Amino acid sequence: MSETTLLGIETSCDETAAAVAVETAAGPASWEIRSSVIASQVEIHREWGGVVPELASRQHLRDICGVVERALCDGRVGWAQLDAIAVTQGPGLVGSLLVGVAFAKALAVALDRPLVPVHHLAGHIESLFLCHPHLPLPAVVLVVSGGHTSLYHLPQAGTYRLVGRTRDDAAGEAFDKVAKLLGLTYPGGPVIDRLARRGDEHAIRFPVARMTHADRVEEPATVVPPGSPKIGEGRMDFSFSGLKTAVARYVRRRQATGPGALSETELADICASFQRAVVDALLDRAFEAARRFGACSLGIAGGVSANSRLREVATARGVERGLPVMLPTLHLSTDNAAMIAAAGLRRLRAGMTASLDLNADAALTL
Ligand code: KG4
Ligand code: ZN
Repeated sequence: MSETTLLGIETSCDETAAAVAVETAAGPASWEIRSSVIASQVEIHREWGGVVPELASRQHLRDICGVVERALCDGRVGWAQLDAIAVTQGPGLVGSLLVGVAFAKALAVALDRPLVPVHHLAGHIESLFLCHPHLPLPAVVLVVSGGHTSLYHLPQAGTYRLVGRTRDDAAGEAFDKVAKLLGLTYPGGPVIDRLARRGDEHAIRFPVARMTHADRVEEPATVVPPGSPKIGEGRMDFSFSGLKTAVARYVRRRQATGPGALSETELADICASFQRAVVDALLDRAFEAARRFGACSLGIAGGVSANSRLREVATARGVERGLPVMLPTLHLSTDNAAMIAAAGLRRLRAGMTASLDLNADAALTL
């Protein structure tokens, strides 16, 4: 098999990213990332306390040419050496997605190369295969980001079955909203992660949503046959808006009754206790799903997988239960184009290319 060189482009939210990946053989361990460039807009959006869609798409327009040129230069690849162009089609902010999709289409026409549309969450899942090419299958993967908190069953590489998801806020969104109400900067996840290290995670007992009766009553281990999961049954769904409200109520009550502003210790204790509640809710369901599907490994991907406590507790629980827990590197946890290139190579190999009618889809499903 000859090498395939692919350019991946990601512009679904507030990072403009491009990466060059090369597939050297047909089996696992065959993807090589030659370059991965990310231009973050975080400083622009921080001022507003969150991503402003209009500003995001305008900044993607400014950055896209330079980011792609830099990815080619870092990867020592010329335009003519590219065999295909992969791009995030959705989900995400439509104005942001359109910049990447239009750029990728123009490049595909100019170079006369196939265009490969990629689902953003498939990219996050494939980041795991970039780091662990021999990831044991079947697997259960928790994708936990700013916009999504979903559980997928992977009976084999490239097949993703949704088996659980958040009913309201995504976990990353909860981190960002709680940080905002505590007066911390955007994005909240990394700030809470840092402050929580100095706090006592048992200081405050915040409620963790119990979705169903089955959540409270442990069922005997039964392996669910492939194809049978029903989304919305409840037991593998998540909910984080109640937790966010509980933190808001706690802070309001404390400010109304206690002395002045929150002390550094109080702030650290709130962050640590909130983070513990999120980590427990995520891992309880992820390990439960792994058990129900007889998974040989549990993967955790997406921006929140960068959380130090989540990584620590997940790894420890995995060791305890004899279940390998797979995590991407920190660079591949948050939005990047290497993961889009990896997912693109898999889709290209399966012949899943798009025509020039391709459009961005803000609500694309996987
Ligand atoms: O995957 P991602 O980069 O973008 C989306 O697809 O949404 O995830 C961004 C989210 C943000 O909500 C951010 O606060 C969160 O990931 N995040 C973290 C950490 N680093 C990023 N959350 C908790 N702890 C972190 N260390
Ligand atoms: Zn993402």
